[in-house]
Amino acid sequence: MSDAADIIAAAKPGFRPKIGMILGSGLGPMAEDVKQATVIDYRDLPGFPQPSVEGHAGRLLLGEIGGTPVAVLQGRAHFYEHGRADAMKVPVRTLRAIGCDDVILTNAAGGLDPAMQPGSVMMITDHINLVQSSPLFDESGNSRFVDMVGAYDSGLRERARDAARATGVTLHEGVYVWFSGPQFETPAEVRFARLIGGTAVGMSTVPEVILARQAGVKVAGFSIITNLGAGMGDAPLSHEQTMTMAASAAGALRRLLNHMIADWYA
Ligand code: HPA
Repeated sequence: MSDAADIIAAAKPGFRPKIGMILGSGLGPMAEDVKQATVIDYRDLPGFPQPSVEGHAGRLLLGEIGGTPVAVLQGRAHFYEHGRADAMKVPVRTLRAIGCDDVILTNAAGGLDPAMQPGSVMMITDHINLVQSSPLFDESGNSRFVDMVGAYDSGLRERARDAARATGVTLHEGVYVWFSGPQFETPAEVRFARLIGGTAVGMSTVPEVILARQAGVKVAGFSIITNLGAGMGDAPLSHEQTMTMAASAAGALRRLLNHMIADWYA
C-alpha cells in the first residue's frame, strides 16, 4: 500500500508545497484562500486521523496562496479524542515528506491576560507542555530528544510582525499552556496557568510543534482568543461559543496569514 506522501504526489504530480498549515477551530474557512486546490480527504490518506470534533473537516488542500505553494490541513485530531499525543504524527511527518520547510499552526484558545479580549489574535512565542505527554513516547534512538529552545522560529515571528503591521492587525504575543481537555479548565487551573507564565490556554498544537521540530520543520503558531480563561469572565464556556467566536475573529488572522504567506518568497 502507498503511504500518504505517495498518494499526495500522485494526486498532484510535480507539486511541492513550501509551507504547511493546520487550521484549528473556526479557521476552516481559510481553506477558501487556497487557489488551484486539489483536495484529498483524510480518509484516503493512510495514518491520517478521522476528526471527531465539530468544526474540523478532515481534508488536505494542495494549492497556492498568493503564488506560494501550500499544503493546508483543514482539521486536526486532538489528544483529548483518544488520549494519544501522537494523533498528528503521520500528518506532520507527511508535510515534511512532501516538501514543507515551514509549518503554520493555528488554534482557538482562552486568554489569560485581561488586556487580550475575545477576538484577539495571539502569536505563540513559547509553550508549556502542562499535560506532560509527548508524541514521541514510543520512539527509540536519539532523535526523540528534541531541542525545544526556539521552537517557535524567531525569523517567522519577525515575518508575522511585519505582516501584522502591513495588514493593520493587532498581534499579541505570549506563552501557550497546553491542557488536555476536553473539559475546560477550572478557575484554579487558570490561576495556576497565569502564575506559571501562561498567556493563553488551549487543548492542541503542542504535540504538533514537537513533531515538527523533530522533523526539522520551522514553526509559527497563532491562537484566536475566543474567551477569557475560566473564572476570569462572566460568559459560560462551551464549544459552540468557541466556534462562534473563532469564526467571527478569524478574518483578522486570515488577512495576516495570507499576507505573510504571499510575501514568503518575495
Ligand atoms: N481553554 C482551553 N481551550 C480553549 C479555550 C479555553 O478557555 N477556549 C478555546 N479553546
